[in-house]
Amino acid sequence: MNFNNQVAVVTGGAAGIGKSCCLGLAKRGATVIILDKNEDGAKAVAEEIMAAGGVAEGFALDIANVAQIRELVDLIEKKYSKIDILINCAGITQVVKVEDLTEFDWDLMLDIDLKGTFFMSQAVLDVMKKNRFGKIVNIGSVAGEVGGIVVGANYVAAKAGVIGLSKSLAKSAAPYGINVNTVSPGFIDTEMTKTLNQDVNLVPLGRKGTAEEVSDVILFLCSDYARYLTGVNLDVNGGLHMN
Ligand SMILES: NC(=O)c1ccc[n+]([C@@H]2O[C@H](COP(=O)([O-])OP(=O)(O)OC[C@H]3O[C@@H](n4cnc5c(N)ncnc54)[C@H](O)[C@@H]3O)[C@@H](O)[C@H]2O)c1
Repeated sequence: MNFNNQVAVVTGGAAGIGKSCCLGLAKRGATVIILDKNEDGAKAVAEEIMAAGGVAEGFALDIANVAQIRELVDLIEKKYSKIDILINCAGITQVVKVEDLTEFDWDLMLDIDLKGTFFMSQAVLDVMKKNRFGKIVNIGSVAGEVGGIVVGANYVAAKAGVIGLSKSLAKSAAPYGINVNTVSPGFIDTEMTKTLNQDVNLVPLGRKGTAEEVSDVILFLCSDYARYLTGVNLDVNGGLHMN
């Protein structure tokens, strides 16, 4: 698997699953653009890649800000001429009971986890279509498939939305040679889940997954091995939920 001469954009690339995607793509030859609300984190990942001999650049982006998305995608197109790969990893989660969920909680979650994924994809699809090539991977969650295990209804709704949205994007992008797929992780050991009470006894494989075990599957979907896959949702959850 190699991504030589390809330009990859990763949102939420400063940490966790997104960072692991950035390192994996760079190791396999891609130029990696890291976008994250955490600007220092994005730039630190770019430096790590460059120190290892790769090519990368980090930018600040609040994925909930559509104007910022459009401005940045424009800048990336001007500077790098194309985008081959987009991985939408930026996200937040929340543990909240239905009766305590506020309008603020709802809007914040949906703006970041669902609206951000759509408008980032829309902006990048405009660039990919010109090349008649592209791979987009969105991140769902087991929560979106089973109604949540420890997280709130706002997160469940956003992630169920991402799974449906990816299928809609896959249909509209297919005539342009662009594949759009989803990866839905289960219990993965990252900063996001440090304070979550995830019971590994529920996982048939008996442990949490690592960020790399998710990014390996994401990279597979970005590779030529997955050229005939579009509109699929791949569960990476150690058997926690079987479709
Ligand atoms: N870790 C898990 O168990 C798990 C399970 C299912 C799904 N996921 C999903 O995987 C994705 C990555 O999660 P992770 O576990 O790597 O989490 P993480 O917290 O380690 O990384 C998330 C990254 O997104 C960035 N981010 C947050 N809000 C942002 C915003 N408004 N704009 C731009 N960037 C923003 C953060 O700064 C961070 O770098 C998320 O969509 C998450 O919902 C994670």
